[in-house]
Amino acid sequence: MTPLTNLTIDIEHGMVSWTHDGVTESLPMGHPRAFEMASHAWMRCGWDVKHVHSFTWMGRPIIQLPEDVVRLQELIYMTKPDVVLECGIAHGGSLVFHASLLQAMGRGRVIGVDVEIRPHNRKALEEHEMFPHITLVEGSSIAPETVAKVKSLVKPGEKVLLILDSNHSRDHVLGEMRAYHDLVPVGSYIVSCDGIMEEVCGGPRTQPDWSWNNPITAAKEFAAENPDFVIQYPPFLFNEGVVARPVTYFPDGYLLRVR
Ligand SMILES: C[S@@+](CC[C@H](N)C(=O)[O-])C[C@H]1O[C@@H](n2cnc3c(N)ncnc32)[C@H](O)[C@@H]1O
Repeated sequence: MTPLTNLTIDIEHGMVSWTHDGVTESLPMGHPRAFEMASHAWMRCGWDVKHVHSFTWMGRPIIQLPEDVVRLQELIYMTKPDVVLECGIAHGGSLVFHASLLQAMGRGRVIGVDVEIRPHNRKALEEHEMFPHITLVEGSSIAPETVAKVKSLVKPGEKVLLILDSNHSRDHVLGEMRAYHDLVPVGSYIVSCDGIMEEVCGGPRTQPDWSWNNPITAAKEFAAENPDFVIQYPPFLFNEGVVARPVTYFPDGYLLRVR
């Protein structure tokens, strides 16, 4: 989504008003689109205060929006992967998160790839209760030797859930999709993180080219060249409200393999 230019929440009258792409709209707070727009404004505030840099999972920092963490939990429980392959480790909290779910489910393991696994992060992960379920691979995720190493760790027929959270430039994400998509079977997903870059473009710590140089453009180009994959959010597994779309840092970030 292109950035909102303004948003007003009138709690007294229960109305939300905003301007987006030059069009001004106003809807009751209970309307799903009003919630969606207020959420976009909240996520932009969250970007500015680095909200996602304030969480841990079992002691390790996890740089994710909690809403996305819960949705990933739903996806992992729904798809029951043999391997969660994540590019981009940082402090390792996301690897520990995947591993804790897989341990609870009694199946599966995690492979994490990062161009640089800092010694203190590696040590903390190696000492972690979840480490028996985790394999670390150091190297650029699109380097041929890294791709070969990762593929040697996956057995034929194993169901891989691929999560891309490393370098978020269009070319890099597209390169990761091209390199690893064949590991993802029908019914599983590629999750391409942080397409939020497009809508926070212009805010602090952003670059002007984020409006196009981002994981969304990579996902669209990959889906266009590979009809085995469609951009599609996983279904809500429970919804007694009227929320229509997930609140997420991963817009257009779920690619389902359909054939
Ligand atoms: C956003 S952080 C990952 C956050 C982590 N997945 C989490 O949820 O806590 C991005 C990571 O990608 C790594 N990275 C950057 N370029 C990379 C590349 N070419 N190949 C693999 N990893 C890369 C960085 O070193 C950094 O640790």
